[in-house]
Formats: sequence, structure tokens, C-alpha cells
Amino acid sequence: MPKNDLFLKALRGETVERPPVWMMRQAGRYLPEFIAIREKYDFFTRCRIAELASEITMQPIRRYGMDAAILFSDILVIPQAMNIEVEMKPNFGPYLPNPVRDQKGVDRVVVPDVSIELDYVMKAIQATKELLNDDIPLIGFAGSPWTILCYVVQGQGSKTFDQAKGFCFSNPAAAHELLQKITDTTIAYLKAKVAHGVDVVQIFDSWGGLLSPEDYQEFSMNYTQQIVNALKDMAPVIIFGKGCWFALSDMAKSGASALGVDWTCSARNARYLSGGQITLQGNFDPSRLLSPPKLIKKMVHNMIDAFGKDRYIVNLGHGILPNIPLDHAQAFIDAVKSYPHEK
Ligand code: CP3
Repeated sequence: MPKNDLFLKALRGETVERPPVWMMRQAGRYLPEFIAIREKYDFFTRCRIAELASEITMQPIRRYGMDAAILFSDILVIPQAMNIEVEMKPNFGPYLPNPVRDQKGVDRVVVPDVSIELDYVMKAIQATKELLNDDIPLIGFAGSPWTILCYVVQGQGSKTFDQAKGFCFSNPAAAHELLQKITDTTIAYLKAKVAHGVDVVQIFDSWGGLLSPEDYQEFSMNYTQQIVNALKDMAPVIIFGKGCWFALSDMAKSGASALGVDWTCSARNARYLSGGQITLQGNFDPSRLLSPPKLIKKMVHNMIDAFGKDRYIVNLGHGILPNIPLDHAQAFIDAVKSYPHEK
């Protein structure tokens, strides 16, 4: 049990003095110490060397003292382990030179032995747990199968992921076979992560909001549900679906411990849609960290009042942006820690 158990308490729905806080993508390009490491090692080297991944995980914790750490890695280590080449191009993002576009492509995709292919992640977890010294919990994560399919089929980032959607709608049988392979790999991967010490898992469905509610059920939720079923008795599961307010009601019934919310959904609406019982996480607009620190503090206190201090985890509504000033990130974290005394 970590010494600071605010995050685990909130996930269990217990009463807390103040809500816990962490930030999606908290280890990232807004931190000078992160940029210093990035200048020396390419992206997947940073993921693969346990000393680097654990050091990067600790950087935001040392600077700001969040209530949870998230392991430095990427959702795209899964397709890499499944025999799909993934590059991370500087100033471009993910690039997959041989995207899956047909049944033949799906046949090439393997469900690997994660204890071999992703052993480096397990070593990074062990190294991080040592540095954390049981002070705060460690979050492990994976992409939702739908979000992974988006990159595997599109071959790169996109605003619409039109090729990925086209593949699902024109060849659903092949798409479902691919989604199932990704799901089986992700379940084995997350189980191994928990076995190696992560305290909580989060599923990032960054592109779920591109689907209609019916298509979301068919191509995303069915697979996320399998992951929750397999993991929920081992560790608390958080589902974050960007733009997925329409699915909050189904997600709330999934067995997940908490649901992530983005900033386009009000606290009131999120509570209503999710049934009022489940823990919610979010939902500060990441661009709002560009506001002056005094205003950030006020907005964070208002946000906590709107969600309520219990069954609530303070976070951004998506990842932190690279252009956020350090003292603004500090103001966000400090505002939560001073709640409710300095309201
Ligand atoms: O929160 C953390 O600090 C942990 C680390 C983390 C990274 N990626 C490191 C990273 C996490 C949780 C992710 C998840 C991830 N990766 C998602 C889901 C969350 C989200 O933001 O929607 C997605 C869609 C990816 C895929 C990915 N990786 C993209 C699209 C990019 C390039 C664009 C970008 O935002 O930078 C990456 C690269 C990446 N992953 C970086 C970091 C810190 C930046 C590149 C670098 O450091 O060289």
C-alpha cells in the first residue's frame, strides 16, 4: 500500500480530504529535464532502457509531487510487439511504414508472448517501483483496441482516421479479427504489468469519439469491455475515452473503477450520464493551462466544486501540451493541494 493512497481511495469511492491529482502525459515535452534526455536518445530507446523510462517517469513527480505516477512508455509498443513496424518521427509523430489494409495484412499480425516481446516494459516497472519507494501508486496503461487499430490501419496520426474507419466499414470481418488480436495481446500485457507492480491501469481510447454511438459499441466498447473483465479483479481500471461522453452510461456499467472525461462535457452532465456513483477523472481543458496562474487556481477550485471532492480525480481532459509554462503546471497541482483550505 503506497504511503499516499488518495488516488486508490478515490478509485474505491472512499471519502477523502481533497481529491488526488495527476496529469495525462505528465512526463513530456513541457519539462526541460525531459527535453534534455530526448536530445540524447530516440523515442523507443527511452521506452526500452529501464533506467531512462523510470527516470522520465519520476521527473514530473520530483518537480510537482503528483498523487500518482504514470509509467513512461507509449500505446504503440503493442503493435510493435505484434510484428508491425512503428517509428516515432521527430516533429511528425508515429509512422507505420506497412499499415494493415486487408485480410493479408491481418494475417501477418501475431499475438506475441508479451513476457518476451515486452519484457523491457516489465523491467521499467520494476526500476520505477524502486525509485517510487512506495510513496505514490504507479499507473500502467494501454491504448484501447480501437485506438490501436486507428494507427495500425492509417499508418500515422490523422484528424479523421478515414482509412481506419473505411477498413472497419468495408471489411468488418477482418477488422474484428484484428481488434481481437490486439485485445488478446493487451489483456496479457496489462496482466503482466500488474503482476510486475503497477497499481492501477488506464485504457486510452483517444479516438473513440470519431465513432457514432452504435459503431463505438461494435468496434470499441466490446473490446474495452473484454479488457475490463479480465483486469478488474486484479487492479482498478480507468477508461478514458476522448469525445466519448455518449458512452459514459455503458462505461459506468462495465466494471471499471473510474471514467475519464474531456473538457467538452460538463461535470454535471458527466455525473448525470455516468449514473452519479462511479469515480470520474478530468477534465481541465489542456489549453486552459495557458491562463494566468491565479485564474488556473480559481478554475481548478470551481472544477472540484462542480465534480464534488469525493469519487473524483483531478486531471486534464487530455494530455498536457508542450507549450505550457512550468509555473502554470505548478499552479494546477498546487490548487488541488490547497483545496479546500485556500478556496
Ligand atoms: O503520461 C505520460 O507522461 C506517460 C507517457 C505517454 C506517452 N504516450 C509518451 C509519449 C502516454 C500515456 C502516451 C499515450 C499515447 N501515445 C496516446 C494516448 C493518449 C493521448 O494523448 O491521446 C497516443 C494516441 C499515443 C501515440 C503517440 N505517441 C502520438 C500520437 C505521439 C506523437 C504526438 C505527440 O503528442 O507527441 C507519440 C509520441 C509520444 N509519446 C511523446 C511522448 C512524451 C512525444 C514524442 C517524444 O517524446 O519524442
